[in-house]
Amino acid sequence: MNGPVAPFRFLLPTEAVFGAGSFASLSEHVARSGTRPLIVTGKRSARAAGILDRALEQMPGACVFDAIDENPDTTICERGAEVCRQHGCDVIVAIGGGSPMDAAKAIAILARNDAPCARYFGAEQYTGPPLPVIAVPTTAGTGSEATPFAVIVDPDRRAKRSIAGAALFPRVAVLDPELARTMPRHVTIATGLDALSQCMEGVVSKKPTPVGDALALDGIRRILEFLPRAADDGSDHEARTQMLYAAFGSGIIVAQSGTTLVHGMGYSYTIECGIAHGLANALLLAPLFVHNARVAPDRVARVAEAMGCGPANPGPAVAGALHRFLARLGVSPAARDHGVAERQLDTFATQIANDSYRFRNQIGDLGRDEVLGFYQKSFLGVV
Ligand SMILES: [Fe+2]
Repeated sequence: MNGPVAPFRFLLPTEAVFGAGSFASLSEHVARSGTRPLIVTGKRSARAAGILDRALEQMPGACVFDAIDENPDTTICERGAEVCRQHGCDVIVAIGGGSPMDAAKAIAILARNDAPCARYFGAEQYTGPPLPVIAVPTTAGTGSEATPFAVIVDPDRRAKRSIAGAALFPRVAVLDPELARTMPRHVTIATGLDALSQCMEGVVSKKPTPVGDALALDGIRRILEFLPRAADDGSDHEARTQMLYAAFGSGIIVAQSGTTLVHGMGYSYTIECGIAHGLANALLLAPLFVHNARVAPDRVARVAEAMGCGPANPGPAVAGALHRFLARLGVSPAARDHGVAERQLDTFATQIANDSYRFRNQIGDLGRDEVLGFYQKSFLGVV
């Protein structure tokens, strides 16, 4: 089932280097962009997996900023930029999942622009050109290696906000599926669900592209087939490769089409309840897609088809397929099983309803009551 080709814009200046062993060529790609690299990475996993050591072997003169936690905030990005300036670094190498990659992009701006990080939320708010970023994802999920966005926590507002700018597309994405081999099961699942969510949201966004649709529907099929395999056996090379490719595709979709209310609502679960970003999205997909199917049944029918369902009743079909998929992964579809308290739902719904930015890319006419209804269904794991 092919969708219409409406007018669209498409930009992807990132060079992708995909394949097992491609990490060995990292220093060549870095050397084309600068002479003094700053490696931005997390506190533990890249070091524990030996990936940081392998990067330093290739780039012995590199500085390291390894203080990035999950969901980085403006303060940590400002600290990273200070390190970058002190050492005169001229290229940023992001190694890790979405958190180090997004923090690296913010650091790339702050190294060349003097204001506090919060000043750069929004689109193209900087004047100095950011430092080039080379992205090395070690998870298969966020696709940040292919986007011009840095999603950073604003501690003043207790919210995740986005810094956007065409210059934030990584110069090169080095995609080596062998780096994901040691990723733990729960991280594999959560990040893979983020990629699934980004593919599904792309198809129903207000800015779909035919290229993105093709990537999304293909990505959904690959994720449904290979995420359970990657979760069950981390050393399944084919599954890791397929997931890294699907996640990269999901990033291309986010770069062109953005995300929808699923991501907007999911941030509340992440910030207030500590639920991993991708899992938070997955808990909201079913109720949102029942809604999406009422507004755009043809588009949701394409998602249903990619999930192996027939064309009838696409909303409930997608929701049912999602629940079966989560069950296969051993994940409860009910947010109450992941630390969300019922009394929080009202507050979440009010916050979302008061923030029109969250609805900018969401189809259908929605208000606080509908948002609360989605949270309630997600809480119970029903549709
Ligand atoms: Fe995401």
